[in-house]
Amino acid sequence: MADTTHLSKIKVLEQKNAEALLGGGQARIEAQHKKGKLTARERVDLLLDPGSFEEIGKFVMHRSKDFGLDKEYYLGDGVVTGYGTVNGRLVYVFSQDFTVFGGSLSETHAEKIVKIMDLAMKNGAPIIGLNDSGGARIQEGVVSLGGYADIFYKNTLASGVIPQISAVMGPCAGGAVYSPAITDFILMVENTSYMFVTGPNVVKTVTHENVTSEELGGASTHSTKSGVTHFSCANEVECINNIKTLLSYIPQNCEDTTPLFPYDSTGNEAREILNNLIPENPNQPYDMREVIEGIIDENSFFEVHKNFGENIVVGFARIAGRSIGIVGNQPAVLAGVLDINASTKAARFVRFCDCFNIPLLVLEDVPGFLPGTDQEWRGIISNGAKLLYAFCEATVPRITVITRKAYGGAYDVMNSKHIGADLNFAWPTAEIAVMGAKGAAEIIFKREISAAENPEAKLAEKIEEYQTKFATPYRAAHRGFIDEVIMPDQTRTKLIKAFKMLENKVDQLPRKKHGNIPL
Ligand code: HXC
Repeated sequence: MADTTHLSKIKVLEQKNAEALLGGGQARIEAQHKKGKLTARERVDLLLDPGSFEEIGKFVMHRSKDFGLDKEYYLGDGVVTGYGTVNGRLVYVFSQDFTVFGGSLSETHAEKIVKIMDLAMKNGAPIIGLNDSGGARIQEGVVSLGGYADIFYKNTLASGVIPQISAVMGPCAGGAVYSPAITDFILMVENTSYMFVTGPNVVKTVTHENVTSEELGGASTHSTKSGVTHFSCANEVECINNIKTLLSYIPQNCEDTTPLFPYDSTGNEAREILNNLIPENPNQPYDMREVIEGIIDENSFFEVHKNFGENIVVGFARIAGRSIGIVGNQPAVLAGVLDINASTKAARFVRFCDCFNIPLLVLEDVPGFLPGTDQEWRGIISNGAKLLYAFCEATVPRITVITRKAYGGAYDVMNSKHIGADLNFAWPTAEIAVMGAKGAAEIIFKREISAAENPEAKLAEKIEEYQTKFATPYRAAHRGFIDEVIMPDQTRTKLIKAFKMLENKVDQLPRKKHGNIPL
């Protein structure tokens, strides 16, 4: 006779709980560890505050009967889902379990993810996906594809409502890549993760290229060449720590304000080091990160997309304890010129900050857009327009500091007053003009120079004339395009006050369904 006592019922539950914790079984857990990878549950434990994880859907099983699946079931069906806290703040998480059918996505696996996403959206908290999956559950066919589409749809609806973070910690191939791609940030682990639309075998058949998975879609490839991933992490622990750091800068949802960290002012916010950063020679590079460090709270810069489009630097920081997003031209790489990669990288960052109420600081030293057939033929026009558009539609507090060059269209694009910036400062070293003095003199004084007895001397004279008249911040300041020309060492003080002053800014775009950013 069946044991129906309460004690036996409790035992059944205990057994099921223990079974669920084992995923695809001890042997597969060991195989996972041998590959240098943690299990789905170990990752969740590492991510969340100890004891805070509450699992949802632990006993879910697939409904398939084909190809032997009627005899093979695992509790949880290859994904661990639930909620918990990171540094005390609520987050939702799903973590794919490679030990169960290779983490492949079945109908029920997808339903679990969608359920968590719905909860995250309704309750206004970030969703974090830890991806490690062989893709669509092959035995399920179109049902699995439908499951993916359900997730893509939710990702899109959640975009701009709650922060979405994807860590890729194993395979992520085929259409599966498009869920992380829609989310706000992608982190990848070096040597154990990859993302591609088609793998090396298909590539060889179609294009005859010989390429390894790592070369085709590893962390290093996507952090440097494609820009698909924002963070390339040395190992899984670093990856999870990066997620926690990232969360510390961003609000819970689009209605929330940025986290405020305790800040003790020393009373003296002057940073003298900034007075000597700009080289005398305007063509000499310097590192914009040094300017950033001189402005923000100590050690608070968290760079995003560090190895991609390095001629622009983007990342989060704190100023008097409050998060800001920073976009800075980088004179140390390609003279800080705007090209396609820099424009798209910065545009996406600006849009993220604007979605989630993170004020923007722009540090400007830009000689213009990168000329040449490569850039023109690949569409610097529409790609540069993305950055312009992103700034134009941003309604968060926006401040610009021009440290040196602000030339041509790039002057307009880089958060100029004309496109809605709230406050624009310039250092005395700023040069704000249509183009560099030499180019300008050669064009506007062409006849005078060629008619001169000594054309070279005439050119030098005209360059100097243009330089003195235009390569300064004062013409722009006379017009009010620059609100104040400030001493570099006072930048931090000015910004602390200015961001405080803008704290309650309210600005609205004209009513529309949505804009049509040039994609
Ligand atoms: C079902 C799968 C699976 C899948 C792996 N497994 N992928 N089961 N569906 N997609 C199972 C394996 O049978 C195996 O089961 C276990 O997971 C581990 O797989 P291994 O091959 O032993 O692991 P490894 O050598 O590390 O190789 C991992 C892998 C490989 C590279 C991911 O498994 C692989 O190539 N899988 C198929 C990938 C694929 O083609 N997926 C469909 C892509 S199309 P046992 O029982 O032995 O442990 C797609 C479309 C999405 O995803 C479209 C969205 C719109």
